[in-house]
This record gives sequence, C-alpha cells and structure tokens, in this order.
Amino acid sequence: MKRQSRIRNGDFGFEGQEPRRSCSETFDDILAKRVGRREVLRTGAIAPVFCIGAIANLKGSSHESSLSFSPISGSSADEIGVPDGYKWSPLAAWGQPLTASAPAFDPDDLDPAAQRQQVGYNCDFLAWFDYVHGSGIVGVNHEYTNPGLMFSNYSADTATKRQVDYEIAAHGVSFLLAVRSSGDQGPSYRHYPHSAFNRRVHGETPIAITGPVAGHALLRTVEDQAGTRVRGTFNNCGGGITPWGTYLTAEENFDQYFANNYAVRNGMAEAANARFGVRETGGRRPWWRYHRRFDLAYEPNEINRFGWIVEIDPYRPHAMPAKRTALGRFKHEAAATTLSATGNAVVYSGDDARFEYVYKFVSDGTYEESDRKAAMRLLDSGTLFVAKFNADGSGEWLPLTYENGPLNATNGFESQADVLLFARQAADLLGATQMDRPEDIEANPVTGKVYVALTNNTRRQAGDETAANPRAPNPMGHIVEITEAAGDNGAQTFSWEIFMLCGDPADPSQGAFFAGFDTSMVSKIANPDNLSFDRQGNLLIATDGQPRTIGINDGIFFVPTEGVERGFNRQIFSGVVGAECASVIMNPRQDLMLVSIQHPGEGGTRENRISSFGGSSVNRPTVVAVTRTMSPFNIGA
Ligand code: FEO
Ligand code: CA
Ligand code: CA
Repeated sequence: MKRQSRIRNGDFGFEGQEPRRSCSETFDDILAKRVGRREVLRTGAIAPVFCIGAIANLKGSSHESSLSFSPISGSSADEIGVPDGYKWSPLAAWGQPLTASAPAFDPDDLDPAAQRQQVGYNCDFLAWFDYVHGSGIVGVNHEYTNPGLMFSNYSADTATKRQVDYEIAAHGVSFLLAVRSSGDQGPSYRHYPHSAFNRRVHGETPIAITGPVAGHALLRTVEDQAGTRVRGTFNNCGGGITPWGTYLTAEENFDQYFANNYAVRNGMAEAANARFGVRETGGRRPWWRYHRRFDLAYEPNEINRFGWIVEIDPYRPHAMPAKRTALGRFKHEAAATTLSATGNAVVYSGDDARFEYVYKFVSDGTYEESDRKAAMRLLDSGTLFVAKFNADGSGEWLPLTYENGPLNATNGFESQADVLLFARQAADLLGATQMDRPEDIEANPVTGKVYVALTNNTRRQAGDETAANPRAPNPMGHIVEITEAAGDNGAQTFSWEIFMLCGDPADPSQGAFFAGFDTSMVSKIANPDNLSFDRQGNLLIATDGQPRTIGINDGIFFVPTEGVERGFNRQIFSGVVGAECASVIMNPRQDLMLVSIQHPGEGGTRENRISSFGGSSVNRPTVVAVTRTMSPFNIGA
C-alpha cells in the first residue's frame, strides 16, 4: 500500500477510548457458528490449497484487480487524502448560495433568512438524480448543527432567538444541480446556481403527513388540528432513492429538539419519548425557549410528528414533501429502497440506537414504470416488518400488524396507527433481535443481498453476545449480510452471515474479519456508518468514529462483495480532523464520487478550532466531489 507521509497520532480531544477485550474467542465462535460455509472454505486453515492459491495470485503482479486505484493508508492529517491520480474539489459547502439571487455566505452575520436560501449545515445523506448532458440533481440532507462551531462565543444558556432561528434554517435538505464539464484532467462537477431545481427544505418548510398515522389524535396540535401538516424536518441522517426517482430522508435523533417530557400525559407517548432520549425537564437544545412547539409542556404532540421517513420529489421543486407514516416511527437511519420479485416497493431502515432493530417495509401496491403518479402513493400502504436474526443463520421478518400476537389493546395498541407510531414497543413484543446500532442498510444492485452497517455498541456486555452481534463490547462495529429467501427482497424469511468484523488486522486481539479474505492485505477500518454500491456491486463504506477506535480520521473504503476479492477492503479517501465521512455515492456513469464531510472540527469551538477545513474563520461542512485525473476516468472499478 502507498504510505502517506503526514501521519500523526490522533490528539484532537476525543475522549473515552472504549474498553476492549480480546475478541479471539468470540472470533473462533463466529468461525464455527456463523461465518458462511464459503467463508470457512476461504480461510487458510481449512482449505489451504484454495486460499494460498488465491492470495498468491492476488499478491502477484499478474492479478488484475477489479478496483483500479492504489489504496491510501489511514491518516490523522487535517487534509483530505485521495489516491494518486485522483483529485477533489468542494461542490456544496455550508452557506453556499443555492440560487443566483441568494445572499452570499457571511460567517460574521449568520442570518436565518439567508440560510433558508443557502446550503445547510452538517451535510449527510447524498443522492444523485440524473438530468441531462451528464448533469444531475444532488440531494443532500443536513443532519444537525454545531452552534459552538458556527457562532462566536456561543453558549446554550444565552443563545438568542436569532441563533435558534438560524439553526432551524440550517437543518433539512438541499437540492442543487451539478453540471459536468470535461478537460485534460478529467471531468469536473460544479453547482449551477441558475437551475430551477436548486431548492431548500428546512425546519419551517410545510410538509404533509400521509399514510395510516395521518390525523391520529396524538399527531394533532394547536397549530394543526387535523394532524396532517407539519413544519419542517430535523436530524435527517441517512436516506434512500426510490426507483421512481424521489429522495427519501430519515429523521433520526429528533428527541434533542424537544423539552419537558414530564408534561406528557399519554403513557405510551411518555415512555416512547423517554426511550428516544427526551429529558424530563428542560432540553438538550434551547429551541423550546423561543418556539413553544418544542416544549412538550405546551405542545405534547408535536414530537409525534417527527421520527418518520420523508419523501421529496427533486424533479418537482414546488411539490410538498411528505412524511410517510406507513414506514413506522423510530430513529430512522436510512431508507434503502428496492423492488420485490413481484414489483412491490421494499424499504429497509435501521433504528440507530444501541439494542434497537432493523426494519423492512413492503408496499401493498406494485411499481409501474409508466405511472410515476401512482408510484408516489406506494409508500402510504403496506406492511412494516422487524428482523429476527436466529443463531443458526436463518432469519424472519416479523410483521408489525395490529392484532398480530401481542400487538393488541391489552398492550396499549388500539389500531395499526398505534403500532406504527410506537414501532419500538411493538417490535419488543414480537421478540425482534437487538442490534449494535443499525446505521445504514443498502441492497446490492447486482445480487440483491442486503448489507447492514452496525456501527458500534460499547454497552453490550459479556454474556449478551448474540450470533448477529458477536462482540461484547463492540467498539469497532461490523457488517451483516442478509440473503432474502429465493433472492426476493419481499420475502418474509432470510439467511444471514457476518460479512465484516471491523478493526485493525495488525492487532490480532481485535479479531478483525473480512469475509475470510487475507487480513494482511486489507485496509484497517472501524465504525461503518453509511453504505452505497457501485454498479458492479462493490460496497462503499463511509465511517464515523475511527479517531477514537483505530486512531485515524474517518474515511471511505471500497470492498468487493463477491468473487475472489470478496472482503478485500481498500481505503480510497481520508477525511479531516473532527469530521465523519457521513455519506458516499457514485454517479451512474461512475466518474464522480461524492463524500459528505460532516462536522469538521467537532471537538473544538469557533474560537478554538482543531481543524482548518473549510475556511479561515469557520469550519464549513462540505460535500466534496472526487474525480480521476487519468484516463480512464471511471472511479474505483
Ligand atoms: Fe446520524 Fe446514525 O448517524
Ligand atoms: Ca449516519
Ligand atoms: Ca446508503
């Protein structure tokens, strides 16, 4: 591997090196119990002839790897790293005017009205929607805000209404047209501010509530007595792209915007809020002091209008977004969308909290390519399932349907809407498998297999290991591979394997495992978060947390999922200090890789910065465009 010269140890104020114990016993157990038969065959001890042959071939110069870049080493430098022959440039930075008439970014006068016309803060999930001549509409959501990095001398105790209003405006989603130009140094992509597709959805944007929970008594508020219209979307983390070309964005840690759970009278709601993390008195953010809808003592139901998947049509910038309640309410990380064998829409979504669950929605209707209008209603009726991973490698999708077993009035569920509104409690009753923080989920476009990133769980204790979550504690994270019955993403049963146990292979006590691939050849990796695929079915992994687990900045990794290179993990991108790499995608022509650099400099403040990324006076979360400078210009493969 190519070595980068500017490696220094992570000393940027990250706290709490998580306790580790040797994973070797667990790893042996996994090999014995749950690593797929084909993986066992590829480990040297069991099938040395095959294994040595394959690795000798890979190590020899005769091997033509399916991936064409020279992997980089992990780095702690405060600069983006890409392989030789690649370059990067900013495409969309916080505060960048979205349209030609939008105000310029002024970090010393952070104006809410301006922010509603500019790219928001903390870019996260990325999507690309083809337009014409190589251009595309890029959708990017804005998960949360770091006021201590945004405002000078910020204190939550003395935050002003203008600061709060700015933060509300900095959440949501941006859509921008990216246009392609070609040159000797390969293609370039830049934001075109004159396009009608440039659009902001923010914390005050009207959004429809649709599906079975729309109009529920617990969704009605003083402002919206019908329970069908909400202002804004918050803490949008992962997301998805539907086959009919819409953007799905997932509301994750919405609890932090609300205060005073003590005042909620409905027992199911109060318990749900507490489990989500809402404080009994006060709140983690000061928004409720200026906007009563965030104060549960004034408006107990506003919070029930968050925690959903939101569908937005990037091709119709004036169409109202919709919260699709049929997909259930929890801390949605993602919304990976594909089709069943019979054409039903299938949406996979994880609930990103320790010991929470993996879900799947299957629509009642089927997708007809010729009828996009009908497709826009597909996510309003269907069945929500939750996953149970059995120790023998089988699995079941348990239907979260009213009166299925314990999901009845005895347990507080009076309707299907109740089951969807309180999906976590319903999943508990069905005996779903508690996972190690399900982050992104993605379906392989070539094989249909489904990959679940389990980013970490430092609270899983020895003795509480399960086959699908085999480490206790699990600071490094892992990836589970699901194969649906008969290859049908609409199936109600599946088989599963451990695809990757993350860690540094140079430290055998970590028990890192890469689908049986020779660990001496792979890039170290930890804390898988966002996933995507290239057209060939190679998995791209974005990480969140590597500085505190393996001592390098977060990055992007490429790993084939099939064939002789299955598990051959290689790093293609290194981020900056304090930042996670929150999302990665490639455009369909695969000459562009977009990466979200989220919260650069986190751990510092605007006065005491730990990263210089993004600007001279303030760090700017930024979507960066990575392209190749040498022909052929396709990235990775
Ligand atoms: Fe917002 Fe689960 O990462
Ligand atoms: Ca994430
Ligand atoms: Ca993804």
